[in-house]
Amino acid sequence: MTRRVLMGAATATAQANIALAKYWGKADLQQNIPAVPSISLTLQGLTTKTRVRFFADRQPDLVFLDRREASPKERQRVVDMLDRVRSEVGCDLSAEVRSENRFPTAAGLASSASGFAALASASVQALGLNWSPTRLSRLARRSSASAARSLFGGFVELPTGEDDRIAARPLAPADHWDVRFVVASTALGPKAVGSTEGMERSRKTSPVYAAWLEQAPMWTRRIRNAVRARDLEELGATMERSTLLFHTCAITSVPPIYYWLPATLGVMSVVRELRERSGISAWFTMDAGPHVKVLCQAKDAPRVRRALAACPGVLDTKTTRPGDGVVSKVQTAAPKLPRARRKRVE
Ligand code: DP6
Repeated sequence: MTRRVLMGAATATAQANIALAKYWGKADLQQNIPAVPSISLTLQGLTTKTRVRFFADRQPDLVFLDRREASPKERQRVVDMLDRVRSEVGCDLSAEVRSENRFPTAAGLASSASGFAALASASVQALGLNWSPTRLSRLARRSSASAARSLFGGFVELPTGEDDRIAARPLAPADHWDVRFVVASTALGPKAVGSTEGMERSRKTSPVYAAWLEQAPMWTRRIRNAVRARDLEELGATMERSTLLFHTCAITSVPPIYYWLPATLGVMSVVRELRERSGISAWFTMDAGPHVKVLCQAKDAPRVRRALAACPGVLDTKTTRPGDGVVSKVQTAAPKLPRARRKRVE
């Protein structure tokens, strides 16, 4: 076997985020531009660590996810991002990517946000490029829009707009507000319909989609103000409206997409009871899957978690707090690529 010549290596660690104001639907499928603005909270401890190494040969890129070789579909999404970075510097080095998720078993949280945020940062650093977080966020957004938000810690906004330059921006740091998300996992295994496919189906077939496009920007504004004012009642009530209307789009698509299970509805009802009977300010949100994430104050989290764990069909619960953005480290400095070989694509 011939020895491969290593040209640059870096690792990056990114954490998952949960949207308070949901992104659902694309204004431009090719450029992956969200149709609505969204706001999220990056979470501590739900981490993806990714190492990227570039070699001076033209072998096919190798991609390993959680120590197994990526499926052709998974690999293509990774290679598409690597190609964007390579075209930026005009290089044709081959890459080896190893990515591992440190998610608790059955946490039920998507790993694509933390995964593509970590990959964006590691691949750019491994080629010796020094991009701003905004530029990395833009790169991550093209692969998965929620990943654009995981570049930053704390409360993060991803606007929408007309062109490909859209990137997330920090709204408030992780220590701005000591809230908790209690995650109730209600199923094992991957979701039935991926979010990319689900939102396209909603856009093309749901009669409710037009109402979603009309309402969502207003809710994002209210959520932005509620985050700034640390107003949990206003944030929670608006967050629930956002998730309910996006799920209504999914349910009214043709064919319908039911992300919820009976346990999902059970947890939603427990959350309402916590508010109405116990006076606890707890608020639910769901993504493209059956798990429920409940926002509450830090002091109420143990009680909320006990109530969720007792709910039939809940397999696992976890309490998470606001977390930081991407952290990366260059392991082997890439040789300086001649300026003439650098192509500007933006
Ligand atoms: C329901 O970011 O996974 O979690 O851009 O097609 O990769 P793509 O979609 P993705 O969608 C996330 C949708 C959501 C809501 C949210 O996180 O805002």
